[in-house]
Amino acid sequence: MDRRKFITSTGAAAAGALLINPVSAMTTSHRSARAKKRLGLVGTGVRGIGMFGRDLLRNYSDYVELVGLCDTNPGRLRVADEAIGAGCPTFTSLEEMVRKQAPETLIVTTEDSSHHEVIIKGMELGCDIITEKPLTIDEVKAQAIIDAERKYGKRVIVTFNYRYPPYRAKMKELIMEGMIGDIRSVDFHWNIHHGHLQQYMMRWHGESNRGGTLWVHKSTHHFDMANWFINSEPAQVQAFGTLERFGSKGPFRGKNCRNCAHTAKCQYYWNINDNEWLRRLYADNEHYDGYIRDNCVFRHQIDIHEKHSAIVKYANGAYLNYSLTADTDFDGYWIAFNGTKGRLEARVLGYPRKDHVDLVFTPVSIYNNRSPEVIKVEFARGGHWGGDPIMNDKLFKDPDMPDPLGQQAGVRDGVMSILIGVAARKSIAGSRPVNIAGLTDLEPMKVKPAFT
Ligand SMILES: NC(=O)c1ccc[n+]([C@@H]2O[C@H](COP(=O)([O-])OP(=O)(O)OC[C@H]3O[C@@H](n4cnc5c(N)ncnc54)[C@H](O)[C@@H]3O)[C@@H](O)[C@H]2O)c1
Repeated sequence: MDRRKFITSTGAAAAGALLINPVSAMTTSHRSARAKKRLGLVGTGVRGIGMFGRDLLRNYSDYVELVGLCDTNPGRLRVADEAIGAGCPTFTSLEEMVRKQAPETLIVTTEDSSHHEVIIKGMELGCDIITEKPLTIDEVKAQAIIDAERKYGKRVIVTFNYRYPPYRAKMKELIMEGMIGDIRSVDFHWNIHHGHLQQYMMRWHGESNRGGTLWVHKSTHHFDMANWFINSEPAQVQAFGTLERFGSKGPFRGKNCRNCAHTAKCQYYWNINDNEWLRRLYADNEHYDGYIRDNCVFRHQIDIHEKHSAIVKYANGAYLNYSLTADTDFDGYWIAFNGTKGRLEARVLGYPRKDHVDLVFTPVSIYNNRSPEVIKVEFARGGHWGGDPIMNDKLFKDPDMPDPLGQQAGVRDGVMSILIGVAARKSIAGSRPVNIAGLTDLEPMKVKPAFT
């Protein structure tokens, strides 16, 4: 299906689908009377409200219309409705929202562990999908999404915003132009500072059945970047991972931070009530569903890793040497591509202190007196190193915008990125290398297929 069809596809469903498909069942006159794309937002936490609620309204209201908000927590839904200010109906039931409001596309910003339910149900009800990363958290849910996409023929886009910052686009361009030849290996090391990790541990991200561990929740971004840059699919993973400080490793524990008996001596004490926005959105609404935003970082349910190290072998023979060190006083990363003609390298602080990134190209012929070349790429304004607004322009303003670097991603990309994390978890549990083939029915390919 091409991009133009994506915009109009929901109006072209087969007659047989009309009875069960509320979106397709809209009359032609109803459809042609409006030009804006009808969107439903599912999951109104901080990400849904900020990135796809307020920003959409502020920047894209000439192109799209939010026709419904949905969240299983009615209190959070009320606060989100006020904060977004779209003035559209709100729903605690996805099915009811789609039947009453007939969105053409659902934006999925629920917890990672429920993405698959919303994606599959949304497609069944006739909607295209734009989903936050990670696509899902394990191989069984991934296969269910693959099957549903085949069955319902809808379009699913995974918002890999890490592909969009201008300096990463520049790296991709240089690699595609053959500047470093064929990539033989990649060194990719990401650090998260203590404060960031503490927030993960307090939230659902600390529990593997809710966020798939940081191997999936966080590293899906990194593995997708690697797959995209290397332009091949992962074949085998060998990994190590450890939890050293949080969860059961901690000296004491309480119910949640604000009510804990150990606040005076706990270095991680954080009072959510000091932040009015987070209190209203989360703490005030926990009685509805037991969602606790400030869980104890030493609770026994924490079963993720802080230290992650993996080697990934790609179907084209390239190796990825990867680490995610999530308990440091540094936030940022270093990536280097070793190719047959040279090496391309970038170091980036999580919170940039300068307005550009230096890409360092070291030709293989350095030993013949050629010096490294520094290519400066300016930061763009906006979230995630300037990537979010560029991605959103393509999603909402001009879906026909050319995509020469292949930045837009679909189900296959989403699956291949999470499967590296899934294989890493299995590798650690079984102390063995794990093959990607067999986790789902997708066979890793030497050349990554383009998403069209
Ligand atoms: N791309 C990025 O850079 C980026 C950044 C932040 C978050 N995210 C992703 O965005 C998503 C949301 O993150 P968040 O921090 O806002 O989480 P959150 O927990 O604050 O919000 C999720 C919301 O989903 C609701 N929910 C859960 N299951 C639901 C269901 N089945 N139907 C409807 N609502 C449901 C919860 O009640 C909650 O309000 C996550 O998948 C996260 O990984 C991506």
